[in-house]
Amino acid sequence: MQAENGNKVETLVFRVSEENFDAVLDKAAAIIRSGGTVAFPTETVYGLGADGLNPDAVLKIFEAKERPPGNPLSLLVHSREDLGKVARNIPEKAFRLMDAFWPGPLTIVLEKNDIVPAITSGNLQSIGVRMPDHKIPLELVKRAGTPLAAPSANLSGKPSPSFASHVIADLIDRVDAIIDGGEVIIGLESTVIDMTVEPPALLRPGAVRSGDLEKIIGKVQPGYKDGEARTDAALLEKRAGQKYGHYTPDTKVVLVEGGSKSVPEKIVKLLEIYRNEGQKVGLLLTEETAGLPAFKMLGTYEYFLLGPREEPEVAARKLFEGLRNMDRRGLDIIVADGSFSHSGIGDALINRLREASSVKFVV
Ligand code: TXA
Ligand code: MG
Repeated sequence: MQAENGNKVETLVFRVSEENFDAVLDKAAAIIRSGGTVAFPTETVYGLGADGLNPDAVLKIFEAKERPPGNPLSLLVHSREDLGKVARNIPEKAFRLMDAFWPGPLTIVLEKNDIVPAITSGNLQSIGVRMPDHKIPLELVKRAGTPLAAPSANLSGKPSPSFASHVIADLIDRVDAIIDGGEVIIGLESTVIDMTVEPPALLRPGAVRSGDLEKIIGKVQPGYKDGEARTDAALLEKRAGQKYGHYTPDTKVVLVEGGSKSVPEKIVKLLEIYRNEGQKVGLLLTEETAGLPAFKMLGTYEYFLLGPREEPEVAARKLFEGLRNMDRRGLDIIVADGSFSHSGIGDALINRLREASSVKFVV
């Protein structure tokens, strides 16, 4: 089991298959029940789970991820019964969202029950809860018999993991077990909606879009805008989550947003400037930009193709792999092509690109 205070622990890595599914899940559930930590795939990103009701177990998540204390974790549940244990005064609108989107990529912030320790909720009186649409975490929660505190399974400040290899790179010898269940399905973290305020506030965009939520519950307010706190919820989230930042590769990321003509033109100009300055540049590109005659020189750069402009779901799945891939190459700058369609998961994709970047051009 995991030693205290960041000491090295031996990490078991399980490659899960149909044949060994039961045995792996039983072992993983036993680790959770004994207060240990297990990383596993979900449909959004890999999560690092521990018994969310056991403060000692939850502390191990903070230590393994080097997550700043006070940043609230969310809980994964397997059933409405689990939900009733951890949350109270659940508004009727929240139940409607569960009916529409659970199991799935939607975290719902609710008033917490006293059974949820302060370390799990970052000292807040509310808690984010999600029922994942993936049989590994669902079975793990069920067999462990407790809701799992489960943030993304990356070191704090790194992109969320979309493959077990990302988890291994960040957390080997820091967690008790890692379940390798292959690539995730969506690739970006869940949508987060705060149902403790009225109108409910969108705290993080994800695969479930603001418009999808509004069809079910009516008006949803943006949780934040242009760095301005708009509501109590926005203030809370600023304190609770956003101030810590996310998705920041070590290499400086320059994002170019805009149209299908203007973005490639701007990127070509930037490349000239950076080359003259002697900067080592890598590129994250749409397939369309990469295929333009002006990008014949692409072979002389490090680059990673995110996918077609009109299929943001492909890029969503590849983004964190792309950021990690570029981050390993000892570059000075990563230039990211932001000419994706905002349809479907496109808004969330652009949100993550913005969060990853420190310089932004809109052209
Ligand atoms: O898709 C996901 O949600 C993944 C997978 C593993 O389930 N998990 C994940 O966890 O992204 P994490 O901890 O990285 O993000 C949870 C988000 C954070 O932005 C956190 O600040 C917010 O939910 N959150 C949790 N409880 C909250 C609360 N009481 N009030 C406001 N925000 C809260
Ligand atoms: Mg995270």
